[in-house]
Formats: sequence, structure tokens, C-alpha cells
Amino acid sequence: MPSELPARVHLVEVGPRDGLQNESEHIPTDRKIAFIQMLCAAGLPTVEATSFVHPKAIPQLADSGDVMANLGDTGAAEIMALVPNAKGLERAIAAGLKRIAVFTAASDAFTRKNINMSVAESLDTFAPVVQQAIAAGMSVRGYVSTAFVCPYAGEIDKRVVRDVCVKLLQMGCDEIAVSDTIGAAAPRDIHATVGHILESIDVGKVALHLHDTFGTALTNVYAGLELGVARFDASAGGLGGCPYAKGASGNLATEDLVYFLDRMGVETGVSLERVFEASSYIAETLSRPLPSRQWQRLRAACG
Ligand code: COA
Ligand code: ZN
Repeated sequence: MPSELPARVHLVEVGPRDGLQNESEHIPTDRKIAFIQMLCAAGLPTVEATSFVHPKAIPQLADSGDVMANLGDTGAAEIMALVPNAKGLERAIAAGLKRIAVFTAASDAFTRKNINMSVAESLDTFAPVVQQAIAAGMSVRGYVSTAFVCPYAGEIDKRVVRDVCVKLLQMGCDEIAVSDTIGAAAPRDIHATVGHILESIDVGKVALHLHDTFGTALTNVYAGLELGVARFDASAGGLGGCPYAKGASGNLATEDLVYFLDRMGVETGVSLERVFEASSYIAETLSRPLPSRQWQRLRAACG
């Protein structure tokens, strides 16, 4: 285990996708665009803006084409979108995306509910999608959902997770988001499973995608940092959940992660205040407060 924490980490903002896909309130496209623009301006290096899944599966993101068509210049920020299959890739290419994310899981029970395939079938589906994306000049992230605990199958075998990660990398993904979809993991799980994955995969290719359902997300970040992981997902204000994982509450909040990393002396390049402004804008649209501790603290300070 490295004795020092990474000096700098790369944050991936997933609020506009993982967060907004879970909101029942209708959010106008121009508000989504403004939200994404504010997040980019806050210094987030990668923003997952939307997804090209079946509009019936996730009606909240059915306007992904319009979001991309009207997003405009996002400065230094890299924009990414989720793609489930060849049809999704076709739509992402038409929208001008340069980076996509494909997603599978470490549990057949979960992928069947989510994408109507087994894990092996999903890998077979993605292989040509990833190949075609790379041929079109895109780069590809791979998500491995339910990497620790599955809401349907329970405890997940770390060897299965490693296997899926290795297959996604062999396919051409340049980053694997090891995901605690229901937020059940604790640092011991991170050490065991991510430690096992790192026996086969370069740490620079591993990201941690954490949810905070049980309040363990930041301790899991710390466990990841101890292993040398330097890529973390977070969602502005702690928006989020998963429509296919009942009980999964919000993602780790970007504000809470940025505060923690700032305080730990780990550089992010992200402005906590500006993320708060973006979250506040979307909170106003949703007419509800957001779960992030830092968001609530700053909100109270605003009076
Ligand atoms: N975008 C738009 N339409 C799509 C599509 C996509 N990505 N993928 C498939 N379709 C259309 C097909 O063209 C077909 O249309 P037709 O009936 O008019 O010919 C129809 O959907 C059925 O296609 P099929 O391949 O059988 O898809 P499916 O119904 O088995 O759905 C997924 C599979 C993966 C597309 C769907 O389950 C999905 O989008 N899931 C996303 C779940 C998600 O986003 N979860 C949250 C992230 S963790
Ligand atoms: Zn998630």
C-alpha cells in the first residue's frame, strides 16, 4: 500500500446523468444545459452530461440529443455520456460526443433488470460498440455496477469484479469505474475488492463511483486514496440514486468530496463554492434541499 496519498485527483461529475436520471420532477432542457455549464465552470475536468439509453427506460434523459446540440463550449471540461448499445452509440456519434461510458455489472441479476442482459451478454454487446466508438475517435469508460453488494444477489465475489474489469479494458476502455451502486461498501470492502483488482490493473485506470446510502462514501474514498486511486465520481449536491436499485440514495456529493480532499491537501482544481452555486440552481428547479452536508452548511450560511 503506498504510504502517501495521491497529490492530485481527477473528479468525474455525474450529477447531470446519475443524479437527474433519478428525479421524478420534469427538468427543462435549458436548465440541464445551464447546470452542466456551471459544473464545467466550477473546474470539474469531466462531466457526465446525459445518457443515450432507451428513452422509455429513462424518460428523464430522453432529451439527450437536444442537451448536446445546445450545450455549446464547455471550455477545458470533457463531456461524457452513457451508452448502452449500438443504437445508443449511433445517437452519441450524431450528437458529437468524444467520450462515452458503457456499463455492465458484476451481477447477472442486476444487469438483467437494468439492461435486459446477463453480464456475459452485455460484454458481447459492448465489444463491437467500444471498437466502433474508438474507430470514430472516441474514448470509452466502462462502469462495473454492484461491484461490492448487489440489491438482488447480495455479496459480490471480488474475482468476478476483477474479471469484468479486465475484460472491459481488453475491449478498449481506458478507465473502469468500480461502482458501489447501493452505497453498501465500507473501507474493508474497498481494500479487499479494489486491492484485488489492482493486482491485474494499473491504478491509473481505476475510478471509484460511490454512493452514500449508508454514510460510508467518504471513508471509502479515503480507503481508495490509500490504495493510490486518484479518480473519483461525485454528484453535485448529492443528487442521485439508481432506478434499478431500490433504496440506493444519492451519490457521494461533489461538495463533500471537494471539502474533504481540500482539507486533506489533495488537489482537485474544483471550486467548492461554484459547485454549490450549480447545485443551488438545480435545487431551485427541483424545489427541494439537497442532501450534501456542505450544500446544507453553505445554504445555512447564505441565510
Ligand atoms: N436509444 C434509443 N432507442 C433504442 C436504444 C437506445 N439506446 N436501444 C434500443 N432502442 C430501441 C430499438 O431501436 C428498438 O426500437 P424498435 O422497437 O422501434 O425497433 C427498441 O428500442 C427495442 O430494442 P432492444 O434492443 O430490444 O432493446 P431493449 O428493449 O432490450 O432495451 C436497453 C435494452 C439497454 C436499450 C434498455 O434496457 C436501456 O436503455 N436501459 C438503460 C438502463 C439505464 O440507463 N440504467 C441506468 C444506468 S445505471
Ligand atoms: Zn451511480
